[in-house]
Amino acid sequence: MSIHTASVTAPVNIATLKYWGKRDTKLNLPTNSSISVTLSQDDLRTLTSAAAAPEFERDTLWLNGEPHSIDNERTQNCLHDLRQLRKELESKDASLPPLSQWKLHIVSENNFPTAAGLASSAAGFAALVSAIAKLYQLPQSTSEISRIARKGSGSACRSLFGGYVAWEMGTAQDGHDSMAVQIADSSDWPQMKACVLVVSDIKKDVSSTQGMQLTVATSELFKERIEHVVPNRFEIMRKAIIEKDFATFAKETMMDSNSFHATCLDSFPPIFYMNDTSKGIISWCHSINQYYGETIVAYTFDAGPNAVLYYLAENELKLFAFIYKLFGSVPGWDKKFTVEQLDAFNQQFDSAKFTARELDLELQKGVARVILTQVGSGPQESKESLIDAKTGLPK
Ligand code: DP6
Repeated sequence: MSIHTASVTAPVNIATLKYWGKRDTKLNLPTNSSISVTLSQDDLRTLTSAAAAPEFERDTLWLNGEPHSIDNERTQNCLHDLRQLRKELESKDASLPPLSQWKLHIVSENNFPTAAGLASSAAGFAALVSAIAKLYQLPQSTSEISRIARKGSGSACRSLFGGYVAWEMGTAQDGHDSMAVQIADSSDWPQMKACVLVVSDIKKDVSSTQGMQLTVATSELFKERIEHVVPNRFEIMRKAIIEKDFATFAKETMMDSNSFHATCLDSFPPIFYMNDTSKGIISWCHSINQYYGETIVAYTFDAGPNAVLYYLAENELKLFAFIYKLFGSVPGWDKKFTVEQLDAFNQQFDSAKFTARELDLELQKGVARVILTQVGSGPQESKESLIDAKTGLPK
């Protein structure tokens, strides 16, 4: 069998200015531009291997060890666009193998448990599209490829870059100007760290796709958000990133999370993504910033109850004196910190003149694990392949 393969890893991104609302549901064209931070692939990434061979009978996808349907419209749109670009290449160079005509085998795995409740569709589509683009040796730029990932899941286009990323909404009907661009590389502001507090929740969330449609259709507040709030905030946040102004970045991040969840509450019927633990974490972050008299932490919440906290490396001890006090008993800390470092967090808290009244011990029960990570790079070619080069099947 003459199997051609490529493997790529892609990161998770967490928006600091949220994408919420589509003006075109088929092409995933948004009602506003958005901004995100790409998280390190050491902690959260999807690895995808793609293979093409004349012998393959049908396009087939395996996700986290299980066969998975590839028939959904979004995946089909991505495959169609990628094949089209490969076809253009083949038509210009007859010596190229006709990969665009062969079926694909795609195998994908996350390095984090699905149970962590982190939306994996962004990393998933970014890895799928990047792996096939690599397999097809497409010459298009990263932004151009991000347009294809966007059709898989809107937020996936932002996972095509590392560091600090904007998804420019564009205005064209066909979406050719709706794509991701990098605002700053991770090395431009490498001190940015993230702490994901995985909040336990039994209820099934309303999917982002459904939720945003309801908001667009019913929320009055949403109109104000997309017309005035977001365009204004986009410029402020972009400037704050370029100038490494954490206080402004953090304030806008928190306000935008709150604005997005306010439009959810303003939808009819209302959508609640945050639970009591999420709200407790918000208050706790404000108490911490107030205690220090400066903004050292920002929270943000997506379409679920998990909190993502952004902070700078230099403030780690200050922040975790408080965060570790409440959530020190959940798994995840020893992956990044020594016993001595964790002890230092406790000592720092004990020395803080903090009114115990504010310590809401109930919050402990609502958090299941912590994932400690930082700003990271965009998709990377991987030496590890999930596909057996002889059989074309998952290893
Ligand atoms: C709240 O990208 O998952 O995380 O385009 O329908 O696949 P679809 O939606 P998706 O929505 C993400 C929403 C969000 C905010 C964000 O990531 O910007």
